Amino acid sequence: MGDGDSTGSAEPIRFVHRGRVREIRGVDPNTTVLNWLRAGGLTGTKEGCAEGDCGACTVVVGEAAGGRLCYRAVNACIQFVPALDGKALVTVEDLAGAGGALHPVQRAMVEQHASQCGFCTPGFVMSLFALYRAPGKPDRARINDAIAGNLCRCTGYRPIVNAALVACAGARNDEFLRAEAGTLALLGSIRRERGLVYEAAGRRFYAPVSEDELAAALLREPAARILAGGTDLALEVTKQHRDLDTLIHVGGVRGLADIEESASHLEIGAAAPYGDAMAAIAAAYPEFAEVLRRLGSEQIRNVATMGGNIANASPIGDTPPLLLALGASVVLRKGAARRELALDDFFLAYRKTALAPGEFIARIRIPKPRAGLRFAAYKVSKRFDQDISAVCGAFAVETGGGIVRAARVAFGGMAATPKRAAGCEAALTGKPWNEATVAAAAAALERDFAPISDMRASARYRTAVARNLLWRFFRSEALPPAEAHVLRYGT
Ligand SMILES: Cc1cc2nc3c(=O)[nH]c(=O)nc-3n(C[C@H](O)[C@H](O)[C@H](O)COP(=O)(O)OP(=O)(O)OC[C@H]3O[C@@H](n4cnc5c(N)ncnc54)[C@H](O)[C@@H]3O)c2cc1C
Ligand code: FES
Ligand code: FES
Repeated sequence: MGDGDSTGSAEPIRFVHRGRVREIRGVDPNTTVLNWLRAGGLTGTKEGCAEGDCGACTVVVGEAAGGRLCYRAVNACIQFVPALDGKALVTVEDLAGAGGALHPVQRAMVEQHASQCGFCTPGFVMSLFALYRAPGKPDRARINDAIAGNLCRCTGYRPIVNAALVACAGARNDEFLRAEAGTLALLGSIRRERGLVYEAAGRRFYAPVSEDELAAALLREPAARILAGGTDLALEVTKQHRDLDTLIHVGGVRGLADIEESASHLEIGAAAPYGDAMAAIAAAYPEFAEVLRRLGSEQIRNVATMGGNIANASPIGDTPPLLLALGASVVLRKGAARRELALDDFFLAYRKTALAPGEFIARIRIPKPRAGLRFAAYKVSKRFDQDISAVCGAFAVETGGGIVRAARVAFGGMAATPKRAAGCEAALTGKPWNEATVAAAAAALERDFAPISDMRASARYRTAVARNLLWRFFRSEALPPAEAHVLRYGT
């Protein structure tokens, strides 16, 4: 694995690997961690899909958080090498201890007969390693979440789940725990006070550390692409074979990943990975968190952001319909100027947003639950886990005295943008919250949208699903809470 040549900028990428600081120069910033590892001979990390779907390429990235090392599984196939700057990298080659002694998760995989052809095994082992290093004793549900982004075509998942149960049953005790203080010290030694400016192969990669640096970099380079988790953007390189000449990475911008709460709002930093935002969102809106739990896989949620989901403006992105229904807004910044824009005004046309050149999303403001507000969201996809929505519907209805005081209904997968259902909302508002009103609102829904047919669903199916989701919302809300829960979270 070349630490690079001398053709790049003077400033190297620095990260911790195998107990020392690696300095990388001359590696094209569009190079994925997977390709870099494999080109350097570390071929334990496999390529299956090159788009974040199969988990064969899973590696683990460590970061300092609150005086501890926090390890997260990520897909090496859609992470660019410079995004490792300031972090620690662990690959499957690093797990075995002195003399080849297996790591507890590797031993459990062997003892539980959890591998056949072995192609998926390094990826599973790394997902289990991240789980092993996380606090707490995971139950089956937690284990299923941790490996939902790893596909195995021959062993079957039961022995792998058993291996996780065995490995994580007791106190954690491995070489990584013993090396933690040393790794933290190395991470401290490469912490940047000013952002990284890296250049190689004629391409540039900036990694600002403050919002001011980020704002200035975007003013200087309005054509640069903002890189957050890269789970949409990196696929332009790996699947569409495009070149991303100038990248500005927001992952290390201090404050931009903060999650705060005011009396009236949840404030999610645009660069906060879903994994970090989940607890705060779940406390306010459990139904929102349930949709997030099915957004991609753990590897995806460990890096992907709500800022990226919104800016990407896909008509089938999962968070925009939920945010539209809740009346969320985005705080945008360009240079020193900030503006707050209702999400209603953000999506202009297919993949076109109100973001000006040089402007970025700084945070997302979500109103907190109010008395009388009923909220639910439903993601309908062909596969339950790790699949993109065919339709995603979100409903926020405020009732008082049996009358609908306000209604916000929004869908993904029904139009060229995530979109509110204006006719449906009008048919609900001011009316009694009963079957006749819902029937009229369901009929209005059919006039609100003219969805397309594509590989995920036909137009007819989408329309029927949208209508049925409104009924499902009505019926589940009309039931006592325990039954409503079963309906909402049932298969
Ligand atoms: C395997 C896989 C499964 C997926 N499953 C789902 C799913 O179930 N549901 C779903 O909705 N999506 C899914 N996605 C898509 C993707 O994970 C999400 O859209 C994610 O939220 C994107 O966030 P990111 O941080 O990775 O964005 P990036 O890829 O880094 O960026 C996406 C776009 O947003 C721009 N951008 C990023 N941050 C900002 C900012 N702060 N200001 C302005 N522009 C910005 C970038 O320039 C880019 O154009 C999946 C992707 C993969 C690879
Ligand atoms: S190679 Fe399939 S997820 Fe990376
Ligand atoms: S063991 Fe063959 S793909 Fe999993």
